[in-house]
Amino acid sequence: MSKAIITGACGFIGSCLARRLLERGDEVVGIDNLSRRGSEFNAARLRSAGMRLIRADLSSQDKAEGAFAAAGPADAVFHLAAQVAVTLSYQDPRVDFRDNAIAAFNVIDAVRRHSPAAYCLYASTNKVYGHLTVNRPVGEERPLDPYTPYGVSKAVGEMYFTEYGRPEFGLSTCSLRQSCIYGHQQFGVEDQGWVAWFSIANLLGRDIAVYGDGRQVRDLLFVEDLVDLYLLLWERRVGGVYPVGGGEANAISVSEGLDRIAAITGRPFPPITTEATRPGDQPYFVADLAWVRRLGLPWSPKVGVDAGLRAMIEWQREHLDEIRAAFA
Ligand SMILES: NC(=O)c1ccc[n+]([C@@H]2O[C@H](COP(=O)([O-])OP(=O)(O)OC[C@H]3O[C@@H](n4cnc5c(N)ncnc54)[C@H](O)[C@@H]3O)[C@@H](O)[C@H]2O)c1
Repeated sequence: MSKAIITGACGFIGSCLARRLLERGDEVVGIDNLSRRGSEFNAARLRSAGMRLIRADLSSQDKAEGAFAAAGPADAVFHLAAQVAVTLSYQDPRVDFRDNAIAAFNVIDAVRRHSPAAYCLYASTNKVYGHLTVNRPVGEERPLDPYTPYGVSKAVGEMYFTEYGRPEFGLSTCSLRQSCIYGHQQFGVEDQGWVAWFSIANLLGRDIAVYGDGRQVRDLLFVEDLVDLYLLLWERRVGGVYPVGGGEANAISVSEGLDRIAAITGRPFPPITTEATRPGDQPYFVADLAWVRRLGLPWSPKVGVDAGLRAMIEWQREHLDEIRAAFA
């Protein structure tokens, strides 16, 4: 049995990872301040499945130290806690910096003291690439060039994980620059998590807006495929920084996403408002997964977009009461 600490354990990706680890018999300590809408429902599920939850704000040095001291040494630390919306990073860049850059620094520095042997994985983002003007998959060689406060604050956290992975600190760190992840236990909102937000809005009969022409392309990655990758990287203690998404086979536009969701739910969307493109919205992001083959990792996305959307929508239908409460 291994022991893992997951920050942001009650959020979307963290809760899916926590559930998987608990199912295989690992000990899981979650650290979360439950600031995300809907996170309290994931918290309740995970607590009853055996996760120990430490409620703490990781942007406070003292609270982060206290949480990692209380959690004790672990075999792996997954840092997923974050302020996740580009829009909010413009509205309040200081809060974004606090919850992303400062919290990431607090976490990796606390790991250095309390859990130095742990494998550490940082959930970075495709936003660290900034403007992408060519419609071509992005490979591991592409450098950081963030645009948007969120892109900058996530890049700062990523750089600290990389720095602490160098010989002077000697930690074992890896960062994944993630594309669009979607699936169950995701309380997507207009500001972030567009795939889940569109299907939630469809099921609840809410109005939606599309920002831009709807032709923005993302390679969707189903959350359980991402969790498989996290576990494989941990098992092999892979270090470095890599882009990840569903790859070209799972790349769709926002408009196609809407069509597919409506086809699955059988409910047309109400008339959709069109708004101006949001700042920093990349017209095209697809991850080049050549690094996975280069490292000889037995991983590729298994869940195609249609199957993933169906699974996500099925979960949403089964949890409509929670979703209604979270969106009240
Ligand atoms: N979902 C995606 O498509 C996507 C894409 C790229 C990168 N990411 C990254 O993956 C990670 C997880 O994303 P997610 O979609 O699960 O987000 P999420 O918002 O569902 O989960 C984040 C969790 O962190 C917690 N949190 C926020 N600030 C905190 C703080 N200061 N202290 C303690 N806890 C705090 C929230 O309560 C929430 O439970 C994030 O780091 C995000 O930047 C996500």
